[in-house]
Amino acid sequence: MPRIKITTPRPILPSPIPGPKASKAMKTLLILNGPNLNLLGTREPTVYGATTLAELEAECVGHGQRLGFAVECFQSNHEGALIDQIQSAGRRFQAGELAGVVLNAGAFTHTSVALFDAIGGVKPLPVIEVHISNVHARESFRHHSYISPAAAGIVVGFGTDGYRLAIEGLARKAGAA
Ligand code: DQA
Repeated sequence: MPRIKITTPRPILPSPIPGPKASKAMKTLLILNGPNLNLLGTREPTVYGATTLAELEAECVGHGQRLGFAVECFQSNHEGALIDQIQSAGRRFQAGELAGVVLNAGAFTHTSVALFDAIGGVKPLPVIEVHISNVHARESFRHHSYISPAAAGIVVGFGTDGYRLAIEGLARKAGAA
């Protein structure tokens, strides 16, 4: 005999009006750039384009805001400083204040077991690996990435537009786009 479950209809409540509380809960995206990316704009412009790091970061902030996220940017030429940022991002993700990280680790991509371990150590924090150039069409030492196996997604070869694509990917993962 099939049993029929009778449920009492619940009133449909209007969705809350976004106010100061909603913006307080706005999550953050962290844009992390590694070694030599402070030279964007003047460094091999035929490979990396003419956009400076400051311009790129401003674009990321604007794009994140359009998708409802606060965006923080950090660049370092030092591996340990990037690892510290990833560990801190992991704690902020656990606390519910950070949605994910966009990481261009520059040349550390091809050398750093420590960055791979750092990303593995803060799972399930989503980290999107970005490269401005198509690393697979370049020297063979750029074909291997220690970051890729730990990354939640990879954007390669779209120039600096790749950062916007990565932000969009993170927003979708967070259910906001
Ligand atoms: C890069 C590619 C790396 O091989 C290189 O060392 C960089 C930049 C890119 O964005 O294309 O510094 O990550």
